[in-house]
Amino acid sequence: MNAPAGSAASTPTDPGSPPDGVRIRRATLADLDELMALEHEIFADDPWPRSAMRSELASPHTFYLVAERDGARPAGDVAAAGVAAAAGSAGPVAAGPVGAEAVAAATPRPSGEPVHVVGYAGLSAPSASDQGDVQNIAVVPEARGTGLGRHLLRRLLVEARLRGLDDVLLEVRIDNAPAQSLYLAEGFEQIAIRPRYYRGAIDAVIMRRPLAASAPADPTEEVAP
Ligand SMILES: CC(C)(COP(=O)(O)OP(=O)(O)OC[C@H]1O[C@@H](n2cnc3c(N)ncnc32)[C@H](O)[C@@H]1OP(=O)(O)O)[C@@H](O)C(=O)NCCC(=O)NCCS
Repeated sequence: MNAPAGSAASTPTDPGSPPDGVRIRRATLADLDELMALEHEIFADDPWPRSAMRSELASPHTFYLVAERDGARPAGDVAAAGVAAAAGSAGPVAAGPVGAEAVAAATPRPSGEPVHVVGYAGLSAPSASDQGDVQNIAVVPEARGTGLGRHLLRRLLVEARLRGLDDVLLEVRIDNAPAQSLYLAEGFEQIAIRPRYYRGAIDAVIMRRPLAASAPADPTEEVAP
């Protein structure tokens, strides 16, 4: 890909700042319930199984982030996501129904103040491999278009570089234009099509993001656990 130095497609060294009011931290098993609620809301057709998500969060070979905001998630935002999904109008990857599983409860911090997750993303990086995989990236509907998805992706790419990976792969539904646009803008290139990979016989686009080996990693960029 032809890109000027320092552009999104160069080796990621600095993910920039998250949108105002959003904090990024490492995900833990304590986030499992809230992440599963969001999985069912955002990926209603094909959410990760709970057991698989639990394994992801517990594994030493993964790096999961959550983006959170103070306060409880406004009820109107949760309801709007559900209505859009019911009408089939939420875009290529539809938001899910409003239900017990779909309503992401606010998780109290140790201080007792509520916070809620507005996005999450995960990288798999097995120690024996020089390739990583973006396992998951999602932003709640009311927080989209603010740069959060890009920020989370860049954080994963910085981590991949710190772990010495040569490149990062991902799969994305062929009908998911917003996600593909994000990946292309961040230096991913399409390398293959996997026919009928997703439920409903939807093809997957396989994309790869090369990570230049020449740029030294800066350990100060690591996200605090
Ligand atoms: C894909 C997703 C994570 C993007 O998150 P986001 O926070 O809305 O994205 P950002 O605001 O950071 O936008 C970054 C880039 O993504 C692309 N993008 C985002 N929304 C888009 C849309 N509706 N249409 C086209 N491109 C879009 C653009 O390239 C955008 O860059 P620009 O603002 O300079 O044009 C979000 O739409 C989402 O959670 N979708 C549902 C879950 C999903 O499909 N995950 C990916 C699975 S492979």
